[in-house]
Amino acid sequence: MTYEKPVLTYLSKLELEHDSNVNDSDYYSDLLLQSLFNFLKKNNFNSIKRVLEIGTGRGYISLVLPNLIPSIEQIIATDVDHYAILLATQNVQLNRLGHKISIRTGSLFEPVEREQPFDLIIAVPPQLPLSKSQIKTLLNSSDTYHIHTSSGGESGRMLVDQIIASSYRFLSPVGMLVIAHSDIIGFEKTEDLMRRNGLVPQLIGSKAKLLKETTLTRLGKPIFESGGYSFRQNDFGEEYFNVGVFLGKKQN
Ligand SMILES: C[S@@+](CC[C@H](N)C(=O)[O-])C[C@H]1O[C@@H](n2cnc3c(N)ncnc32)[C@H](O)[C@@H]1O
Repeated sequence: MTYEKPVLTYLSKLELEHDSNVNDSDYYSDLLLQSLFNFLKKNNFNSIKRVLEIGTGRGYISLVLPNLIPSIEQIIATDVDHYAILLATQNVQLNRLGHKISIRTGSLFEPVEREQPFDLIIAVPPQLPLSKSQIKTLLNSSDTYHIHTSSGGESGRMLVDQIIASSYRFLSPVGMLVIAHSDIIGFEKTEDLMRRNGLVPQLIGSKAKLLKETTLTRLGKPIFESGGYSFRQNDFGEEYFNVGVFLGKKQN
């Protein structure tokens, strides 16, 4: 990933604690941050004050955002996972961002039910298309990947769809949802669902990811293929899929 200088400067300053139990979806998060940065540069949004990040993991995106968007006054970053919450809390303290970022435990919008609307909602949701028995197999395998919080249900879209369907209610009149996911679970479906839920969709970034670079190479491929997805090949015969960043702007 080639970063624009301001993003790079801030990333180099960031202190991050890692935990192998907590999902580090750097590829997705970096693409989201870079795409958002490019979009905001062209579109001049100075009105973003309140931000919600759903599924913050170790807090990476939320830690970068105040530098990317200086108008931000408050970020609420949530997660259902106990380790993620501990790690994100630790990272907020390490980077002295407690005045901007509050970490909350809970599923999807539940921790912010009584909050004022947000100008920006961000998510890199769990999105592996896995059934309960597939999760069991993966948990019994040698993979250390934190599979429980990576599953997006059998379609892979369970959390993506729930976030898109509920965002309108939690967005301010100028608000927008920014969500990153792979084309394994379908790009068009996201655009359709955004439209049906009062959001104007726009693909603000996309990038190929090699299958061999994913954590689930060995076990994941048959799962994706049995769901009907066929991987494309690059000029070197390497299989890849695409990751996209969608922005859904509230339609007033
Ligand atoms: C793919 S990871 C993304 C982590 C982080 N945002 C990043 O980009 O590095 C998904 C995160 O969503 C969290 N999660 C899973 N189900 C959730 C739910 N129902 N509500 C909120 N967070 C959830 C997981 O614990 C995990 O930390």
